[in-house]
Amino acid sequence: MPSDKLQIDAFAMQIGDVAEADLEQLHALSISVGWPHRGADWQFLREVGKGVVATDEIGRIMSSAMWFRQAPELATIGMVITSPRLQTQGTGLWLMEYALKDLEGVNLRLNATRAAQRLYLSLGFKPEKTVYQCQGVVTDAPAVQTVAGELRALTDGDLAAAIALDAAAFGVARASLLEKLFQHSRGYGLFRDGALKAFALCRRFGRGHVVGPIVASGDEDAIAVVSSHIRDHEGRFLRLDTHFETGDFALLVVRSGLAVFDTVLTMSLGKSLNDFAAEGSEPPVTYGLVSQTLG
Ligand SMILES: CC(C)(COP(=O)(O)OP(=O)(O)OC[C@H]1O[C@@H](n2cnc3c(N)ncnc32)[C@H](O)[C@@H]1OP(=O)(O)O)[C@@H](O)C(=O)NCCC(=O)NCCS
Repeated sequence: MPSDKLQIDAFAMQIGDVAEADLEQLHALSISVGWPHRGADWQFLREVGKGVVATDEIGRIMSSAMWFRQAPELATIGMVITSPRLQTQGTGLWLMEYALKDLEGVNLRLNATRAAQRLYLSLGFKPEKTVYQCQGVVTDAPAVQTVAGELRALTDGDLAAAIALDAAAFGVARASLLEKLFQHSRGYGLFRDGALKAFALCRRFGRGHVVGPIVASGDEDAIAVVSSHIRDHEGRFLRLDTHFETGDFALLVVRSGLAVFDTVLTMSLGKSLNDFAAEGSEPPVTYGLVSQTLG
């Protein structure tokens, strides 16, 4: 009689570069943990960041971790995934050690799922604030409201102003990322006296489109720039990741059909979010993240 149990030995894992990894396998890895990324989303991330994968003895990708130098002094970490059947065996920590070695002396930010918080706490990351992942089919797009200033589609000529506004909100200028996002996104900006006061980009991602970044100095301006994107996607799947749970902006998002699907926790190592905050009475604020991975 064969036994009803078979002990499979642990196998050795090999480290590899995410840049050389098979895109279909990366896609399968994120699907295995229920993430919506398409191959094209992985490819976008590979073009703006670095990372490692762990492969088993026959070359199957079992785990990944990526990092993104947004500026010399600040990086974000993301796409930290271990295949469900290999979790809690130290692989996530192993790959994080590669990230941290490459990022020595750099301030770090990431958005942690519940499953990953213990891992990041053990590495010294400090909890900062909650991110609300809002998504759904747009069922009730807001009507056009009048707002002080000129609201119009962004063009390449607005890139420098968008980089500057995003830098004031995010804490560092991430010029190359914004440039790349401009190539992949549609954008709306709110201008007063010729100066960009708020903007929102929207691009294909996962199950539909994602709006981000959204940068504004107050709810009213944020609503003005995001509403155009929501109207563009009436009846279609849209996602938005925001730190705002209450207030007019958060209310508008939920009322449009984008319910809070999940939350993650922004964590930092080194300087905190506050250390990067802009000064002034009404500084620009990030209303919507580029993504959980990119911040
Ligand atoms: C989070 C994740 C990457 C951890 O990978 P892993 O290879 O299991 O990590 P490790 O084995 O190195 O574990 C690191 C620590 O996390 C803990 N941990 C792992 N999975 C956990 C889970 N599902 N819930 C709670 N703690 C967990 C481990 O027990 C370990 O803690 P310890 O050192 O105190 O024992 C993995 O669970 C995963 O892919 N989850 C789904 C995707 C995800 O949420 N990614 C994180 C994005 S921020």
